[in-house]
Amino acid sequence: MLVRWAWLVVSLSFCDGNDPFSVVVPRVPVYGLLGSSVTLPCSISPTLNAVNFEVLWFRPQEGHTPILFYQDLEIRENPRNPQFQGRVSLIGGLDKGNVSVKLENIRLEDKGEYICRVEKTDEGEEWYDEATVSLQVNGKY
Ligand SMILES: *[C@@H]1O[C@H](CO)[C@@H](O)[C@H](O)[C@H]1NC(C)=O
Repeated sequence: MLVRWAWLVVSLSFCDGNDPFSVVVPRVPVYGLLGSSVTLPCSISPTLNAVNFEVLWFRPQEGHTPILFYQDLEIRENPRNPQFQGRVSLIGGLDKGNVSVKLENIRLEDKGEYICRVEKTDEGEEWYDEATVSLQVNGKY
């Protein structure tokens, strides 16, 4: 896994301006209410079928324990982040490039940034793009 990530960092410099898609997220924070659920929006532009792509959601500095990892048409059980176990799902619409995730039963410690990364492998070539979504958590008073 480490080797693969290192390769991705290197490959980034080669695909400037040549990417088949870019990842789009809201520029403003998403607000969630403690104990309820929220959707962290993320999609790709132009609209492409992302069913065969790889989707990785992780928090900054926690790339090795993603909160969600989709690959080979399914959500991988491992690796996963215990904090988010059983609380995160893709909302669907991957065929329309929608890779948003739903986070349930929001906790205070969920507040912060989330990175949405989409990766495409095609004939041995690999592209990816990623963007950061910020989640604010509001309590009930
Ligand atoms: C992705 O799906 C969610 C939930 O259905 C929706 O709210 C959102 O607008 C969709 N995003 C795009 C870019 O289609």
